[in-house]
This record gives sequence, structure tokens and C-alpha cells, in this order.
Amino acid sequence: MKIAIVGLGYWGPNLLRNLVALVGPESVVMVEQSLDRIAAMAGLYPSVDWSTSLDDVLDDDEVEAVIVATPVSTHAHLARTALEAGRHVLVEKPLAGSVVDAAELVVCAEERDRVLMVGHTFLFSPRVERMAEYLAEGRLGAIHYATSSRLNLGLHQRDIGVIWDLAAHDFSILFHLLDEFPVSVQTSGRGMVRADTLDVAFVNLCFASGIVASVDVSWLAPKKVRNTVLVGDRQMMVYDDLDNEGPVKIYDKGVVKPDPENFGEHQLTYRQGDVLAPYVAPREPLAQELAHFVDCIQGKVATPSLSDGRFGLRVVEALEAAERSWSEGGLPVTIEPALPGRDAAASKGQVRKLAGSDHSLR
Ligand SMILES: NC(=O)c1ccc[n+]([C@@H]2O[C@H](COP(=O)([O-])OP(=O)(O)OC[C@H]3O[C@@H](n4cnc5c(N)ncnc54)[C@H](O)[C@@H]3O)[C@@H](O)[C@H]2O)c1
Repeated sequence: MKIAIVGLGYWGPNLLRNLVALVGPESVVMVEQSLDRIAAMAGLYPSVDWSTSLDDVLDDDEVEAVIVATPVSTHAHLARTALEAGRHVLVEKPLAGSVVDAAELVVCAEERDRVLMVGHTFLFSPRVERMAEYLAEGRLGAIHYATSSRLNLGLHQRDIGVIWDLAAHDFSILFHLLDEFPVSVQTSGRGMVRADTLDVAFVNLCFASGIVASVDVSWLAPKKVRNTVLVGDRQMMVYDDLDNEGPVKIYDKGVVKPDPENFGEHQLTYRQGDVLAPYVAPREPLAQELAHFVDCIQGKVATPSLSDGRFGLRVVEALEAAERSWSEGGLPVTIEPALPGRDAAASKGQVRKLAGSDHSLR
């Protein structure tokens, strides 16, 4: 199998390094429109084939799959081109720049029985895996709420705001861990560097189960923060991706509500227990992600696979709704699933219906 990787700017080289390690240099083709970037990568990987055009690469029948690591505004076109040419596709996060485009890609892949996966890298992090295990064991009890912060100085993107860039990570982590998608969203935020593009956003999500979550993202912060907290009725969990000593911590803390001794007396006590910081073996999430993509192509993974097109679409629905809430002055926006269930036949024709409505903000 040969796999083409399109886009070798900031992020593509990380994918390239892992891809070469996974399948070998003779099975990789680099596609990049900048000859300078090609020259830089060819210096590191002299035996990897390259081209400046995806269309040319798709003429090669040996190329079975395409990885898209270009700016978000180009995802839909490049992914659709590859899918229509019968290739399996892994698209960097987020899947596309609008719900309409993302839904079209899902339908396109399902109609052709091709793998469509989205590079929600954190789903392949052993740290997030460990958190998912704790949740599945029920250690936290029923989840009350979650918070997630992703702050830094930069990196500003040319074609998208901070929600599409950074909240894509928090949304994917939370939706995966909670195994639920939000039903409504409300956003406040501000664009300071460019007035029409958000640099900072505070996004509030509501889930049908009653869970509420708050996601803060910023490109204008003095200090890098990567922090997610889940509070359950038994225990609480903190994930600090910058803490290599103990990135995941479980706090045995909570509120005890004893039966009132007298009518009207509700004395609360606070339970202060141990803090558990499990060892999480370091493994590069991108290596896991690419191995999963290849396993999906080879039919070794049960469906739904991790971070598939349908999951990526649900993330895009939340991103688009979050940005719309901001553009509508912070009003809550209801999030409707763009496609019906996972039955491919049922989703045919849905995209045409969607395209008629104003789902796309850009
Ligand atoms: N998963 C993660 O943690 C993570 C981190 C950073 C970026 N990303 C994602 O990676 C993608 C790329 O981001 P980036 O920061 O590397 O962007 P970038 O602008 O640095 O690089 C994009 C590259 O794509 C090339 N390109 C654009 N259109 C092309 C085309 N039609 N054919 C060939 N080459 C083309 C450009 O020349 C450029 O070199 C984005 O979707 C971004 O959201 C993901």
C-alpha cells in the first residue's frame, strides 16, 4: 500500500515522520505545492517520492490512501477529490470548514465504502485512553460537569478562528470521554488581532444527560495551559497535558450529604481522600492514529472506528454552532445532527437538503 500525504507545512512533517516509520519510505508519497517545503522534506527523506499535485498522484493506482494536512479551508476539496478517486482518506482536524462540507464527505465515503478518518490526535493519546478507562469503570460516578482550557500565545491561523483551531481538540476529547454530543452551545469571545476572527472564546455546552461543560480557548494568553477537568458524584479527574510527571490525576473528593438529624437541618461535609496519579506509558499519539488508519483500511477495526468521519462531523457541528452563537451576540444555539443514523443509505440525499439551508458561516 502507498499512502500520499498532502501538506508539509507546520504539522504535516510530524505525520510524515510517523508515516515513514510505520510503512517505510518507499510506501509514502509527499504532495506539497511549495517546492521549498518539498526540498526541506526531501533532504530528510531522500527516498520518499514527491509531487506538487494531488491529481497527478491519484493517477498512480498503487496509492490507496491520502492524508490531508493542509489548511482547513482546503480540506473539503482535497478530501472529496481523493474519495471520489476511490481512496481512503485521513483528514487533519477539523474534518471541514462547514457542516455542509463535512456531511458531504461522510456521505461520499459511505457511498463508496471508503475509510474516512479525522486527525483528532488526542483520542489516540494514552493519557486520554487512561481517562476513558477510568470513566468506563465508573470510578467517577455520574458526571456533573467538565471544564477544558487550551490557552497559549498563538499560533494564529490564516483561515480560521481560535474555536475551529483549538476547541476542535477540547470538543473531541470531551465528546469521546462523555460518549455524548452537545445539544446546545453558547459562546462569548473577542477578535483583537483581526476584528472578524476570534482570538479568545468562552464556550458553554449543554448535553442531553444534564452534563454542562465550559471550554476556554485563546491565542492571546501569557502562559500555555492544556487542562481538562471532569467532576463526578464520586470522584474528580484532572488532565494536565503539560504535566509529564502526573498528567492524569484522580481526586477522591466530594460532598457528603448525611441524612438530616432534625427537620430542616442539612449539614454538608466535604470528603477529602487520596489523589491517584497513575503511570501512563508515553506513546506518540500520531503513531497510534496512523496505525489505526492503516488498520481501518485493512478491515482490522470494528465499526464505528475511533475518530471516524461521523465523529468528525459531530465535532464540526459543535464548532459551527459555537461560532454562530458568538456571531449572533452570544445567543444559545441548538445543535441538530446533520445526518440521520449510521445507515449509509439513509443519509443519501440529506446533504442536498442541508446545502439549501444556511449551515455554513464561511
Ligand atoms: N492534530 C493536531 O494536533 C494539529 C496540530 C496543528 C495543525 N493541525 C492541522 O493540520 C492542518 C495543517 O496545519 P498547518 O499548521 O500545518 O498549516 P500550514 O499552513 O503550516 O501548512 C499547510 C501546508 O499545506 C500546503 N498546501 C496547501 N494547499 C495545498 C495543496 N492543494 N496541495 C499541496 N499542498 C498544499 C501549503 O503549501 C503548506 O505548506 C490543519 O488542518 C490544522 O488544523 C493539527
